[in-house]
Amino acid sequence: MTERRILLIISGGIAAYKSLELIRLLRRDGLAVRAVMTDNAQQFVTPLSLGVLTEDHVYGDMFDLKEEREIGHIQLSRQADLVVVCPATANILGKMANGIADDLATTLLLATDKPVLVCPAMNVRMWDHPATRRNIAQLERDGIHVMQPDEGEMACGEWGPGRLPDPAAIAAEIGRLLAEVPEQADAAHLLTDTTRTILAPDLSRANLFGRHVLVTAGPTHEPIDPVRYIANRSSGRQGFAIARAAAQAGARVTLVAGPVDLPTPRGVTRVDVETARQMLAAVETALPADVAIMVAAVADWRAASEAGQKIKKDGSGAPAPLPLAENPDILATLAISDQRPPLLIGFAAETENVIAHAQAKLARKGCDMIVANDVSGLPGESVMGGVHNRVHLVTADGVESWDDLPKDMVANRLVERIASRLQ
Ligand code: C5P
Repeated sequence: MTERRILLIISGGIAAYKSLELIRLLRRDGLAVRAVMTDNAQQFVTPLSLGVLTEDHVYGDMFDLKEEREIGHIQLSRQADLVVVCPATANILGKMANGIADDLATTLLLATDKPVLVCPAMNVRMWDHPATRRNIAQLERDGIHVMQPDEGEMACGEWGPGRLPDPAAIAAEIGRLLAEVPEQADAAHLLTDTTRTILAPDLSRANLFGRHVLVTAGPTHEPIDPVRYIANRSSGRQGFAIARAAAQAGARVTLVAGPVDLPTPRGVTRVDVETARQMLAAVETALPADVAIMVAAVADWRAASEAGQKIKKDGSGAPAPLPLAENPDILATLAISDQRPPLLIGFAAETENVIAHAQAKLARKGCDMIVANDVSGLPGESVMGGVHNRVHLVTADGVESWDDLPKDMVANRLVERIASRLQ
């Protein structure tokens, strides 16, 4: 078993002293800890004490020439299994939520492809402030794990939520998250510095380098009249996360996206569409591809004809008839196309008999793998639109079920699996 690595980012709050005890507990659990301090953190703890406890170099200066020559911030952020921000001040949470990278700590938080845990600690009024509420909500949407602060008396004498939890509780949370993170391949010594930087320490993903990966994501909107449409609750998050993970593995990624409100992952070519028929056309235009991952929740039906004007109530009390027509099945169309991608993967969102339905779909649609998930549950609690996903990989060889994971981690693992199938 390789040593698990934590990158610990310490920002400048009074609770920073507790990071010393946290490091001690993590080291006792056999974890390697590398510390990064913000400038403000140095007002509360010293690099020397962190260096002694981590038995490692302590990082803090963005412009450390030697490290920067090796593209230090990217290296640092990728070598860890888990990135932990503890304590996380309102300031660093605000920067993270807005993608601000103005020092080493925030730059590597933007550059990392690893799961991130933040442990907020601040005055109760700061914690309750609408800006902090917004930032926390944004971070959760981005797939960041947020540990809720404890309630109690603050260093400033006020009372309420905002206290950093006990280091033992944080260490336990880190252990729980680490159990979900796959171990990194430990053959990084085979790579040159430059390739190691590009590919991260994850060797299996190198198979995707330069390959064309086509991803569909999000819902489709099928117009009924100029103001109404048929849609579903898909957020597009899982598909976008897969596109991001494939691009990080060096693939050339085309992402055909239905109407969603998500930023385009870095390095991904995005084609926005609205309807299923537009999505099919965009997919066909993007071919050939080495891998196609059809994550979109395509509407099965559309209005047979789109009314030119808003449909009005006719006063009789009877609803206007809405004849439907079946949409093309993009996945099944690709499976029988002359340009069928060598690896074709579909998704199956089910509310019951998840695995049985996925197995039937694998055969019916002619693809190589179905990633099945249970989307039952109320809006707001369901996988659809949420940040977590519990998937089952269904292939001709059998079924593999994964734990409930953030969608980003599902994406990373799936991309690794895809890369190993390309070998
Ligand atoms: O049949 P069902 O919609 O459950 O199948 C889901 C899979 O098929 C997903 O991969 C989805 O992207 C794809 N699909 C498609 N075109 C459709 C319907 C579904 O590509 N019209």
